[in-house]
Amino acid sequence: MYDFKPVDGQPKADLYNDLVAAARALTEGESDGVANMANVAALLAEFLPDLNWAGFYRMVGGELVLGPFIGKPACIRIAVGKGVCGAAAASGQAQLVPDVHAFPGHIACDAASRSELVVPVLRNGAVVAVIDLDSPSPARFDDADAAGIEALAAILADRI
Ligand code: SME
Repeated sequence: MYDFKPVDGQPKADLYNDLVAAARALTEGESDGVANMANVAALLAEFLPDLNWAGFYRMVGGELVLGPFIGKPACIRIAVGKGVCGAAAASGQAQLVPDVHAFPGHIACDAASRSELVVPVLRNGAVVAVIDLDSPSPARFDDADAAGIEALAAILADRI
C-alpha cells in the first residue's frame, strides 16, 4: 500500500517538495510510462486541493493525445498551438491562466474549469508531454504552483 499524503496547512513550497519526492519514489525503477503517469495523476489529485482535472497529454505523432488523468472524460486530441495545452506544447513554456474564459482558444473539456496551469515535460529540449491542472476556482494557480509542477516535470522527463 502506498500512503503519500500532504501535511495539513504546509507552505506551498513544502507541499511541492513532498509531491515531487512522492512522485520520484513511486516512479523509481519503473520503465512503463503509462503506469508512471497514472500514479502521478493520482498523486496530483491527492496533494493539490481545489482541482477538477489533473493529468497528462502526450506528444504522439506531432499532436497531443490524452494520457492518464483524474477528472471528467476529456478531449482526446489537441493540435500543437491550440488551447492552453497546445500553447504550452508550442512554446515549451508553462501556461498560467487565471481566467480560462479570457484565454483565446481555450478548449473547454469540463465546463466547471475556471483557471488552468499547463506545464510542458521536456526531454532533450523537446516537448514529450504536458501536465494539465484545472480548477473550478478563478486564479487558483500562481508562480509557486508553476515552479512546483516544473520540478515534477523535470523528474518525469525520462520516466514517462
Ligand atoms: N483546457 C485545455 C484542454 C484540456 S482539458 O482542460 C482537460 C486546453 O485549453 O488546452
